[in-house]
Amino acid sequence: MTPVATPSPKPALWPMDMPLVPRPTAPLWIGVAGKGGSGKSVLSGTLARVLARRGHRVLAIDSDPMPGLTQSLGVPEPDAPLLMQAAEKPEKGPWRLRPGVGPATVVRRYTTPAPDGIRLMQLGKADKDGLNAVQGSVNAFLQVVRRLHEAKSMYPWAIVGDLPAGPRHLAAGFSPYASLYVVVVEPTSQSAMTGRRVARLARGPLGADVIFVASKISGPDERRRVERLLGEPVDFEIPADPAVIEAERRHVAVIDAAPSSPVVRAVQRLADSLEQRTLEDV
Ligand SMILES: Nc1ncnc2c1ncn2[C@@H]1O[C@H](COP(=O)(O)OP(=O)(O)O)[C@@H](O)[C@H]1O
Ligand SMILES: [Mg+2]
Repeated sequence: MTPVATPSPKPALWPMDMPLVPRPTAPLWIGVAGKGGSGKSVLSGTLARVLARRGHRVLAIDSDPMPGLTQSLGVPEPDAPLLMQAAEKPEKGPWRLRPGVGPATVVRRYTTPAPDGIRLMQLGKADKDGLNAVQGSVNAFLQVVRRLHEAKSMYPWAIVGDLPAGPRHLAAGFSPYASLYVVVVEPTSQSAMTGRRVARLARGPLGADVIFVASKISGPDERRRVERLLGEPVDFEIPADPAVIEAERRHVAVIDAAPSSPVVRAVQRLADSLEQRTLEDV
């Protein structure tokens, strides 16, 4: 699998001078973005599982301070992100990655094992004090995602990044690894507006491709509504499926609770197309 050739950017400090430039990256390095509640985490976790079951080595990236991805991946929420252990705080100066710890080491040592051999890297979860308690891991996270393209050993991997709601975090450098954004849109005007903004940013300054997924769709009218609101065709649709809610109620991943449910089959079709795209890229 050949990486997409783009010039190496000069090293940058986050966040103030995080440049919005494309980085060398691999075809199955995917960011999943869209409005809060649109179904990003259900799609990300299920997609990661489907790809892993097809033999891909998968890094799932949970960059959302809100919970969600662990549920759809089928792994208990860790008490604290393992990434904390990769960070240190010098007496003077901000948190940083411990010396000698690069992105490949982080993936090997500071990620949580998840079903089907997936590695889960987490930013950390917000509590009543926001992200204060996990500042170390947030800093380490941002340095790792910024440097993932340096780890050539990661190019054959699939990366599925579940992004926080809205376009802001894309602009802030939460997903510079993504060569493709899967933009998840519910049939509401708010969701479509966020989807359009995310897509504009992804295709423009981030230099990535975009696939639109209409999410929680109950019939052809709803898909058409999403297309009308977006002003362009959607590439895939994920049905509204009670299996998702039932799996959440049981605290089980939907792919484990209902492996042949409509939602899982829809994600399998999305995975078919992503794999096909990879072959065309080579
Ligand atoms: N395909 C679906 N069918 C039915 N309900 C869904 C579906 N996808 C998501 N949901 C519901 O919507 C809620 C939000 O989904 P989630 O994936 O957590 O969204 P996001 O990560 O975008 O905030 C979930 O708790 C779930 O109940
Ligand atoms: Mg989520």
